[in-house]
Amino acid sequence: MRLQGKKALFFGGATGIGRATAIQFAQNGANLVIADLNIDGAMQLAEQLSSEYQVKAVAVPFDILDEESIKTAVLQAENILGGITTVPIFAAMMRTGDVEDFSSETWDTLFDINVRGTFLAAKHTIPALKRAGGGSIITTSSLAGVRGAPGMVAYAATKGAVVTFSKTLALELAPDNIRVNSVLPGWIDTPFNNPAIDYMGGHDAQDEVVQGIVPLGRQGTPEDVAPMYVFLASDESSYITAKTMLVDGGMPS
Ligand SMILES: NC(=O)c1ccc[n+]([C@@H]2O[C@H](COP(=O)([O-])OP(=O)(O)OC[C@H]3O[C@@H](n4cnc5c(N)ncnc54)[C@H](O)[C@@H]3O)[C@@H](O)[C@H]2O)c1
Repeated sequence: MRLQGKKALFFGGATGIGRATAIQFAQNGANLVIADLNIDGAMQLAEQLSSEYQVKAVAVPFDILDEESIKTAVLQAENILGGITTVPIFAAMMRTGDVEDFSSETWDTLFDINVRGTFLAAKHTIPALKRAGGGSIITTSSLAGVRGAPGMVAYAATKGAVVTFSKTLALELAPDNIRVNSVLPGWIDTPFNNPAIDYMGGHDAQDEVVQGIVPLGRQGTPEDVAPMYVFLASDESSYITAKTMLVDGGMPS
C-alpha cells in the first residue's frame, strides 16, 4: 500500500507499460483516472481495477494531439478523484526509417505527440498539483533518447527532448513541491516496437540484437518497468527530482 492517498491521472494507460503501471498503482492503493485514446481498453482496465483492488478507477477519453481534450481530462480527473497528486505520461508514437527517407510530416507528427503532448499534459495538470500542495509528474522517455538508435531518428530526438523538458520542469517546479522525473525504458516487449522490429528485419533479427546488446539477455516486460513509476510516485522518492531513471537490462547509455 505504498500509494495510499495518491490520486493519479494517467495520460495513456490502456495498454503496455501504462497498463502494467496502472495495475501496480491500484495494487498499492492509489485511486486513478486513466485517460486514453483507446477508451474501450481504458474502460475495461478501470472496471477490472475497481473490482479487483477496491480502488476508484475511472477511464476518460483523450487525444494527446488535442489540447482541449487534455484540459477536459484534467478537469474530469480532479472532480472524480477530489484532486490530482500524481501524473504519469505514457502516450507516444514511434515511426522508423533511414534519415534520408524520413518525411518531415512524420517528423512533425512524432514531435506533436511525444514532445508537444508531454508538454501540454504536464502544463495543464500543474495548477491541480499546486492546489494539492505538490506532487509527482513522471514522463516517459526512452533509452533511445540518450543513446540514439539507428532508424529512430525522429523518435530518439523526441525522447531526448522529453528528458531536457522534464529536467527543466523539475527545476522550475521544485519550489512548489512538485517533483518531475523521467523513466527511460530499454527494449520492452510491447507492440509499440513493431515499427522498430520491421526496420530491423523481423522478430528473429530483433531477438538476435537484443541477445547481443542487453546484458541481462532478454527484452523487458511492462511489469519490469512499472515499479519505477510506483517508486517515483511514492513518498519513498521524496528527495528525487530532475532525474532520468533507466530500466533497460543494463544497456550502455
Ligand atoms: N516498448 C518499449 O520498448 C519502449 C521503450 C522505451 C520507451 N517506451 C515508451 O513507453 C511509453 C509506453 O509505450 P508502450 O510500449 O507501453 O506502448 P503502448 O502503445 O502500449 O502504449 C501507449 C499508450 O498511449 C496511448 N496513446 C497513443 N497515442 C495516443 C494519443 N494520441 N492520445 C492518447 N493516448 C494515446 C495508447 O492507446 C496506449 O495506451 C511510450 O512513451 C514509449 O515511447 C517504450
